[in-house]
Amino acid sequence: MSAGPGDVVVEARNLQRTYEVRRGMFRAPAQLRAVGDISFRIERGRTLAVVGESGCGKSTLARMVALIEKPTAGQLMLVGHDAVDPPSERRRELRQAVQLVFQNPYGSLNPRKKISTVLEDPLAINTALGKTERAAKAREMLARVGLRPEHANRYPHMFSGGQRQRIAIARALMLSPRLLVADEPVSALDVSIQAQVLNLLADLQAELGLAYLFISHDLGVVRHIAHDVLVMYLGHAVEQGPKACIFARPLHPYTQALLASTPGLSSQRIVLKGELPSPLNPPSGCVFNTRCPHVQPRCREERPLLRALDERLVACHYAEKFLDGAPLVRADVPVLAAASAANP
Ligand SMILES: Nc1ncnc2c1ncn2[C@@H]1O[C@H](COP(=O)(O)OP(=O)(O)OP(=O)(O)O)[C@@H](O)[C@H]1O
Ligand code: SF4
Ligand SMILES: [Mg+2]
Repeated sequence: MSAGPGDVVVEARNLQRTYEVRRGMFRAPAQLRAVGDISFRIERGRTLAVVGESGCGKSTLARMVALIEKPTAGQLMLVGHDAVDPPSERRRELRQAVQLVFQNPYGSLNPRKKISTVLEDPLAINTALGKTERAAKAREMLARVGLRPEHANRYPHMFSGGQRQRIAIARALMLSPRLLVADEPVSALDVSIQAQVLNLLADLQAELGLAYLFISHDLGVVRHIAHDVLVMYLGHAVEQGPKACIFARPLHPYTQALLASTPGLSSQRIVLKGELPSPLNPPSGCVFNTRCPHVQPRCREERPLLRALDERLVACHYAEKFLDGAPLVRADVPVLAAASAANP
């Protein structure tokens, strides 16, 4: 299956997801906009990291891109084909092209299944390969993710958290997908193990040309793995563009606050006032106006559009004023452990 022009593996245009939330017997259900108007494109061999606080819509976006949930509006193109309403004969092909890796490898592996079965099941269901070929492929994949052939005969509880996440990655790769959607894949792991799994993902990407949609709330992790970054707040993209440019000089006050709150990354402290507003009752104008240290009267009335500025997109009326400030992130801060050469 080809990725189409420019090797674009996935393209989202104005993706939205609204949930109907019940509020008791006598009130009309409310509309909760979990994801509002997100657009991006990921090419072969590239990683887009989506960051933001809890509840900003990251997992909802991940589920839509992984074809688990349908968008309420917008377009999703996967390997050059419409993935929102594909013709029935293309569905299976598209479902194989994208695979999801979850945060919790304990929950996503069936404790009663041997690793050989976990890895061979996708092949048994989706291909005509015989038992011997399936077993050989499973063992090959185990080696690729840094495990040993004899691990195939063991059960999930016999592995550490990092090994289980390697198994989950191996399972996701059994059908040769083009896109891996990873929802907080290292958040449950110790920092030393995080670096190993991130390096494995980077190596697999270099080897197989995979595209990643990588969800994380941790900018330290994002700095390690991403090529491009999309910062979400209350379901909206507030800043998006190349990692180097966003980390060197974030132009949205929310990105600045996120970076400043990441331990060891920034020399500045920005303390955000107030709580995250409820997505059931988002602020008018700029979604960030209730917590923004730079808020002006205009921000409460007029929603800033996502616009191009200095190689990225940013949704702030006053982003220009941050163009000339001192860099927020210290250039001498190393990324997590030894980074893979695959990710400049
Ligand atoms: N099935 C659903 N029905 C109703 N509301 C939902 C549903 N799924 C998610 N939401 C709401 O949508 C918003 C976004 O949730 P989502 O899980 O995508 O956020 P998240 O960024 O992944 O958060 P976290 O970092 O905690 O995983 C939240 O307000 C959540 O309560
Ligand atoms: S538009 Fe206003 S409230 Fe929103 S981020 Fe910019 S300065 Fe802050
Ligand atoms: Mg989530």
